[in-house]
Amino acid sequence: VQDLADLCSFEEVAYLIWNGELPNKAQLAAFEKMERSNRAISDQLLSVIRLFPKQAHPMDTVRTGVSYLGMEDADLAANCEAEKWSDPKANYEKSVRLMAKIPTIIAADYRCRKGKAPIAPKPELTFSQNFFHMCFGEVPPPEVIKAFDVSLILYAEHGFNASTFTARVVTSTLSDIYSAVVAGIGSLKGPLHGGANEQVMHVLKEIESPSRAKEWMLTALKEKRKIMGFGHRVYKNFDPRATIIKKTCDKVLNKLGIHDPLLDIAHQLEEVALKDPYFIEKKLYPNVDFYSGIIYKAMCFPVEMFTVLFAIGRMPGWIAQWKEMMESKETRIGRPRQIYTGFNERKYTSISKRG
Ligand code: COA
Repeated sequence: VQDLADLCSFEEVAYLIWNGELPNKAQLAAFEKMERSNRAISDQLLSVIRLFPKQAHPMDTVRTGVSYLGMEDADLAANCEAEKWSDPKANYEKSVRLMAKIPTIIAADYRCRKGKAPIAPKPELTFSQNFFHMCFGEVPPPEVIKAFDVSLILYAEHGFNASTFTARVVTSTLSDIYSAVVAGIGSLKGPLHGGANEQVMHVLKEIESPSRAKEWMLTALKEKRKIMGFGHRVYKNFDPRATIIKKTCDKVLNKLGIHDPLLDIAHQLEEVALKDPYFIEKKLYPNVDFYSGIIYKAMCFPVEMFTVLFAIGRMPGWIAQWKEMMESKETRIGRPRQIYTGFNERKYTSISKRG
């Protein structure tokens, strides 16, 4: 992942995840051409976005936006047959179209909630450049674009995390790509998963100053609160993505000449946590979400957008998992058994006799 973050664009990584190999020049050019020419969303969807409640969370609006895209896809018309989704070429094209439109939905919603007109995508820009253009009407320096790309690459795919697992369960019923992605978005939103990058910012603000980090942390642990941005179900030594994002964060803040007091608080919280016996014993380290929010804040994204930026990054992963299952003959419905711990058999009581 270090090589991919250093040397590749997000588009190359998406191609890799969907095709198993990095693209050569011609393959990348074809991929970029398809992605760039599919960025526009319909006027109908734009009208729906304009109607979204202004206080709605961006994860909820993108969930609805993707759902709407599903309604616009003729392949999903009432008589849809899942068998037609076993064609890898058609699936690939559908995947690129979906990946291309999601940033447009998110940027249009961002503009509308601020009372501003949406900005049309520009096909001459890269995926990340175009997203900044659609949100802010300008493209930041290459170092900032690279940092944004790095964050998307680190988020792109991560095995059986909760949202991917959710998307796979939906796919296992042979449901469509939009339903799988909508389910993934719903799962990612929670604060124990993608929502953590927003929560970290609230924590850092609550701490107020680096000198309060230790006292805050000890109180939070006493209150049995989870420290957002720490811990991982799989990584028990460190999260390799966190190391990369921390370096990227320092670099981009330097480039922008920003001194964010929240970064000082984050460094201090990390330092005291890593020396604390509780964190040592439970093998808790900063995860990828600990520093990503500080980067996004420096890029002028509001905190409530941080998780939706994660969702843009995770899109290739969810889609790859959908494609893999749809194109495999081995796919079986996800149906775990539950261990029932309730009552044994009981007699029915009519409503007039219930206490
Ligand atoms: N702060 C305080 N305690 C934590 C903790 C955190 N961030 N993460 C885990 N722990 C504790 C658990 O409460 C548990 O304590 P116990 O042994 O007394 O029951 C112990 O550490 C082991 O937890 P573990 O089983 O490893 O956690 P998990 O796999 O169930 O959960 C997370 C993993 C990511 C959900 C969890 O670490 C967490 O909630 N982190 C904060 C949210 C976050 O940053 N999520 C983004 C993940 S990329």
